[in-house]
Amino acid sequence: NPGTRIAETPSGVLNCIGLENPGAEHFVREILPELKKYDVPLLANMSAGTIDEFAWMAETLSVDGIAGLEVNVSCLNVECEGMAFGVDPKVVESVTKAVRKVTDKPVIVKLSPNVTDIVEIAKAVEAGGGNGVSLINTLLGMAIDIHRRKPVLGNTYGGLSGPAVKPVALRMVHQVYKGVTIPIIGLGGIMTGTDAIEFMMAGAQAVQVGTATMVDPTAISRIAREMSEYVEQYNLNSITDIVGAVHQV
Ligand SMILES: Cc1cc2nc3c(=O)[nH]c(=O)nc-3n(C[C@H](O)[C@H](O)[C@H](O)COP(=O)(O)O)c2cc1C
Repeated sequence: NPGTRIAETPSGVLNCIGLENPGAEHFVREILPELKKYDVPLLANMSAGTIDEFAWMAETLSVDGIAGLEVNVSCLNVECEGMAFGVDPKVVESVTKAVRKVTDKPVIVKLSPNVTDIVEIAKAVEAGGGNGVSLINTLLGMAIDIHRRKPVLGNTYGGLSGPAVKPVALRMVHQVYKGVTIPIIGLGGIMTGTDAIEFMMAGAQAVQVGTATMVDPTAISRIAREMSEYVEQYNLNSITDIVGAVHQV
């Protein structure tokens, strides 16, 4: 998007980048070979403007070196007056099916929190044959420059991420865990090992870290270390012992 694309807020950040990237083909040809040098599984996060484009994107990204696809449904559906794919369970099921049909890779659908009933959307992923869900994407927000009397962000609205969204994200992971049987990747405001463990106790099998890396580029390795310390402190076999633990109390 043009104009200002990032605005700091207390405890978080608003962004309206607009998914800028050089495209799936360029990614596979030029960027993936570099990333393959790292000894970690790579998930490709993808978004599109139509269901056909989602299918094309999934096919294009289903190559050696990609461990799985993460389908971002927070983007706008150009065939539906620009409504986000992720707000309509029927559309989410169709996108999941369309991607599932063209790839052998695990398909994880990344849910938008800008919905009334997140469980209904997660169930649609399950019905469409998705292998997992990740949540949450950013919460729609706004900032105003009172001197210019204008929105701070070039796109007026932007997605809120960082610690401010963590309680909402945690609540949604907890609700989705109770509603579906497919695995969950939890994210939204994770800054510390404690935050990550909370997500796992709410029901996430794995976590992601985004905004924290903007304030601490080493956040991910630190968080992993803090999680290992917890495993030792409580004499667990593995961090996955705590998945959904809060439901057992
Ligand atoms: C600058 C920025 C760019 C992002 N771009 C994408 C994106 O391309 N695709 C996507 O699914 N989510 C995107 N997100 C959302 C994050 O992946 C994540 O869902 C969200 O920020 C919450 O996690 P966090 O608080 O750990 O950042 C972006 C977030 C930020 C801050």
